[in-house]
This record gives sequence, C-alpha cells and structure tokens, in this order.
Amino acid sequence: MESMSNQSATLLVIFGATGDLAQRMLLPSLYGLLRDGLMSERLRILGTARSELDQAGFRELVGQALARGVPSAEYDEAIVADLLQRIDYTPGSLGEASSMAALTDRIAQLRDGVIVYHLSTAPRFYAPICEMLGNAGLAGAGTRVLLEKPIGHDLASAIDINDGVTRHFDEDRVFRVDHYLGKEGVQNLLSLRFGNALFEPLWNTRRVEQVQITVAETVGVEGRGDYYDHSGAMRDMLQNHLLQLLCLTAMEPPARFEPGSVRNEKLKVLRSLRPLGAADAGIDAVAGQYASGAVNGQAVPGYREELGRDSDTETFVALRAHIDNWRWSGVPFYLRTGKRMSRRCTEIYIQFRAVPHSIFTGAKTEPNALLIQLQPEERISLKLMTKTPGLDRDGLRLSKVALDLDLHDAFDDMRRRLAYERLYLDAMEGNGTLFVRRDETEAAWEWVDGIFAGWHTAGYVPKSYQAGTWGPGSAVALTERHGHSWRE
Ligand code: BG6
Repeated sequence: MESMSNQSATLLVIFGATGDLAQRMLLPSLYGLLRDGLMSERLRILGTARSELDQAGFRELVGQALARGVPSAEYDEAIVADLLQRIDYTPGSLGEASSMAALTDRIAQLRDGVIVYHLSTAPRFYAPICEMLGNAGLAGAGTRVLLEKPIGHDLASAIDINDGVTRHFDEDRVFRVDHYLGKEGVQNLLSLRFGNALFEPLWNTRRVEQVQITVAETVGVEGRGDYYDHSGAMRDMLQNHLLQLLCLTAMEPPARFEPGSVRNEKLKVLRSLRPLGAADAGIDAVAGQYASGAVNGQAVPGYREELGRDSDTETFVALRAHIDNWRWSGVPFYLRTGKRMSRRCTEIYIQFRAVPHSIFTGAKTEPNALLIQLQPEERISLKLMTKTPGLDRDGLRLSKVALDLDLHDAFDDMRRRLAYERLYLDAMEGNGTLFVRRDETEAAWEWVDGIFAGWHTAGYVPKSYQAGTWGPGSAVALTERHGHSWRE
C-alpha cells in the first residue's frame, strides 16, 4: 500500500454530483484513493446538483454507484462506510438565490483548509458558478477549481468561460481536466519518450514517415444525445483528447516534469499546427456519421435513429495534420476518432522510413514501426524485419515480427487506477502538470474552429458510414492519397 500523501484538511465540492460522470468515475475514484490510504483523514466531500435529495438519499445513490463501479475484488464494506460518512449533499439550482445561499452557507460551514471545486456540469454554468463562489467570498486563496471538458463550443465561448472563471480564480488555481492525461497509458508515453535515450534520435522528420493517432470506440452516444448532438466527435474528442495525445507525442523534451515546462512545450505544438481550411474539407479533414450496422456481432441502430431526429452532427473525424516546425516538417500526423467503430482502441502508431536500399533482391522489406497501445490493452510493440527460417538458396526471405511488451503482464501485481484517482490527488496537492492550461485549450479551439469554418465554406456535411466499420470511404482515401494506409 502506498503511503498517505496528504494530511491537510480538504473540502471537495462536486457540482453535478448526481450526474453520470460522478457516479461512474468520480465516486469510484475517491473510493480507490481511500482504500489505498491516499486520502487525507481530513477530507470531506460535498455533493450538489439540482435534485432535491436529502443527505440519506444522496448517500444511498453513492452506495449504489460504488456497488456498480468498484470491482467486486476491491469492494470493502468498511471503506464504503468510511467514504459515505465523509459525504454531505446540498441541492443547488443556479437560478434560485435561496438555494445558492444555502449552498454557499454549507460550504462556508464545512470549510477547514483547502477547497477543491469540481464543476462536472454543462460548461455554460462554469462562469456563473465561479461568480457565485466569488461573491460569497469562497473563491480566494486556498481554493481551486476543476473544469471538465469541453471548455465551450468554440474559441469565442472558451474565452468567455475562461474570462468568467479567472475573474475569481487565478489561472494557477484553475485545473482543466482532460481525463486522458490521468490515464496510466498516456503518462507512459512520456516515460517512453523521456525515460529512454533510444527513441530521441529517431523522433523526427529524418526517421519518421508518418504518425497515426486513433481513438476508436464501439459505443454509440449512450443516452447522451442531447449533449453529444451539440458537440460531435470534433468537440467531444478531437479538440481535447486527440490533440493532447498529439502534443505528448510531438513535443520537445520539457526541462522538467512540472506544470510550466510541460505545458509550454505542448502549447508550442498546438501553435505549430498548420491550419486546415475549405480546400481541405472532405479531403484532408473528413467527417462521418454512423448509420445502422453491427458492432461485435450485435445489430445497432444508426445515430439519427438513436437520437430520434435528423442531424448533421459528426460521430467520426479523420484529419491529416502537419506540425510546421524543424522536428516534424513534412511528416503527416493522421488523427481519427469515432463512435461505433469496428473495435475499441486508443493507440499511437509511428511508422519509420524504409531502408534506403535493400540488399536482399526479391525480398520485400517493410518499414519499422512503433505501436503504443493505450487501451484497452497497454502494450508497446516494435515491428522489425527478420529472416524467415529456411535455406533460402534463392536469396534471403524476410518476415515482419514484433518485439512486444505487455504492460499489464509486466506489472501484473499492481492495480490499474482510474484516471480521476491521479487527477484528484494532483488537484488536491495543487499540481497542474496533468491539467490543461488556458492558452492550450484556446490554441486547440482556434485550430478546430478553422476546420469547422472550412467545412462550412465548402458546404461539407458528414458522410455516412456503417456502424462497426472504420468510418467513411473518404477517411481511407485521406491516407491512401499519400501512399499510406491506416493501421487496422
Ligand atoms: C469523453 C467523451 O471525454 O471520453 C465520451 O465525452 C467518450 O464521448 C469518452 O466516450 C471516452 O473516454 P475513455 O476513457 O472511455 O476512452
């Protein structure tokens, strides 16, 4: 068991505490931290949401969420009881002054040290909530705020939200969550790049032919249609998760693993992204929407059927991005994400350049490649050419084999933590390294806004693809046009 890292008094206030994220991820993460002795003895949790629940009603809901969300082998009644007795609930509805006053009174009563506010609500409520906290004198030194993505809908709304939040919380007390940064596999990308000297000489345009970043899901919109239909794959996944993965893959080595150095380097990548405009719509920037099909052998409805209405929202995006700097000049970064894909995977695939000259006449050589799989498996695999066994009297034959590292096997005695365990601990300790800074999120929006504007100017609408496939045909053409193909 790891040692307790934080004994200071902390109040965690979760806005949107009855919501899906809180129930599925946040509460099980708090359980995990408590179970491993990583939570301060003096941590209290206050949940708030619009539901008119009383304390007992909310604790019952939390109990049910833990029963569902904690793996049975890790479930311990005593820990559940400990967690429940730390939890309070006060209903709160932003428009109602009396309920807000009751909420701020409760926060003030429970305050005993640091307060961490976690806003797990629709982003349009972020600024008003911060304003309310500021007016109540509850946003000063010793308070921090965690914001869920997406921050806004475009650059303009992101600036409004960020202005509204930072009017009351200084930037170094604002923790923008991208839960991918809390994932073990994503942090391992940093260890792989900066904990080994082996890769750095290869990590550039001289040695790399192309990079692919894929985040594919088999699920559909899962009852989140109202949110998703206003968001789509670009705003829900690409603007944040994929661009963060791109940054970690492409950034220069930061001087230290600390908030300023890491985030400065990520920002430089975002600011070096070549704009994609109307000329690229449908060619280097492709969108799709799933129609009915079959995923894992199960028939599934199309997006519009799930939603119950017509829609032009994209559930798939594929792009060919370029980072215009010395390291990456000329190397395409293919990014793709979608719902109802053929299988679930998050991976980064780096294909190196081919041998400059083959000495094996007649034998086919394929370029080396490094595959970093982040989920569902954590695996690193280096594709190499080797001799195919045999006498080969007509010349050597070559085969591609993989040097394979399964990180689950390598660390099979260690529990895989939920992303929010790491993120909560860091936020409580005030460490922003794995959170997104304002300028990063705004640079990402600026780039993404340019793609939407290009689609709009070109009158481009998402192309239909069958559920259970890898997206529309134009996504395949996007790589093949340049002599590449997606790893599938
Ligand atoms: C969330 C998106 O940020 O990430 C969801 O809003 C998506 O639409 C989810 O399903 C994927 O996260 P994970 O951790 O399952 O890869």
